[in-house]
Amino acid sequence: MTLRLDGDALLAERDEPLAASLWAHGVIALARSPKFHRPRGPSCFRAACDGCLVRVDERPNQMTCRTRARDGAVLVSQNTLGSRKVDLLRMTDWFFPEGMNHHELFAGVPGLQSVMQAFARRVAGLGKLPHDERSASRARRVEEDVLIVGSGPSGMAVALAFVKRGRRVRVIDDALEPGGVAVPFGRTEGPFAPLLTEFRRAVDARKIALSLETTAGAFYERDLLVVAESAEVVTATTMVLASGAHDGQAPFEGNDLPGVVSARAAATLLAHGVLVGEKIAIARPDGGTALGAWLMAKARAHGAEIVELDDVPAEAIGNTDVTGVALLTNGERVIYDADALVMDLAPCPSHELAVQAGASVGHERRGYVVKKDARGFVAEGVLGVGEMVGTPLDLEALLAEAAHVTA
Ligand code: FES
Repeated sequence: MTLRLDGDALLAERDEPLAASLWAHGVIALARSPKFHRPRGPSCFRAACDGCLVRVDERPNQMTCRTRARDGAVLVSQNTLGSRKVDLLRMTDWFFPEGMNHHELFAGVPGLQSVMQAFARRVAGLGKLPHDERSASRARRVEEDVLIVGSGPSGMAVALAFVKRGRRVRVIDDALEPGGVAVPFGRTEGPFAPLLTEFRRAVDARKIALSLETTAGAFYERDLLVVAESAEVVTATTMVLASGAHDGQAPFEGNDLPGVVSARAAATLLAHGVLVGEKIAIARPDGGTALGAWLMAKARAHGAEIVELDDVPAEAIGNTDVTGVALLTNGERVIYDADALVMDLAPCPSHELAVQAGASVGHERRGYVVKKDARGFVAEGVLGVGEMVGTPLDLEALLAEAAHVTA
């Protein structure tokens, strides 16, 4: 099928994430950051980085990693003065290398103040409002028996365990397909493939209600605001948070450059048949993860050249996307050619929703780990499972945890 980006026609596969359709055509820099107009591109493929925002069919700020490709879709890049590749306001970043406060710049200087205000309006904000107004609608109140947030390996394991106990189960996920990190590991061959197959069968048999493209927005005491095309306020006899983990991050020059992605993002792209690059640098400063090792093997098998780096890069080099990576070796700057930089770092628990529900957290090197009691509760009436509570991403460990919390 065909979609259009800034007027150009591009072929895509129906229902794949738009960000994957674009990457397959080498379209990596999608937009500009609001203030300094630095180039932006997808880096997480899990609705967590904001790098993939595009105006789609007149709707601003659509996460293209979470938007299905549809025939005739019209995509327009945002926040550009010029084009995605050449943006005149990019000079803001060069003029103010130490940062600038556009709210106060030239404030009180006659003449210059109004010029600066017009400039500030242009650099602030993200996207433009849609032409058509959507009327406000009321949220529906919904009561569930078991509501599980997240359809990754831990969410699937606990959903199947609750079904075996005769409970009525609904799973919500903001992804386009179920499985979470099971998908980048391989839908039919990875370590979580059997779990994914069993889960899909239970969904097909209507033993589990699955709501995709549906976001758990926020807790208001025991009410969970759930947002899809319309909104729901959900209460549940048992609420389960299986929100997984964020990709690990590392501070270095250019770490926001399009083409710098997590190992999970690169493996997710590959699950949609798209190689992240032909010459891929993979930084694995702490020895990397199982997913990173899996990605390297698969990318090599697909003909990619891999440069494995055992340290955090000094810089991702490039103007609008990655063209190389600099590493400091014995105090010397060594440059590697690369068209993608994959960061293979330990993930850190997605603790935010659990904290809203009343959970407490402990800080470890990998991030804030949600604390649970002996039965697996992280807050009153709220169970926590999987990477969010520090359970290893390992099938046996997740199945044991699911059996324990549902007993
Ligand atoms: S939010 Fe879409 S790639 Fe990160």
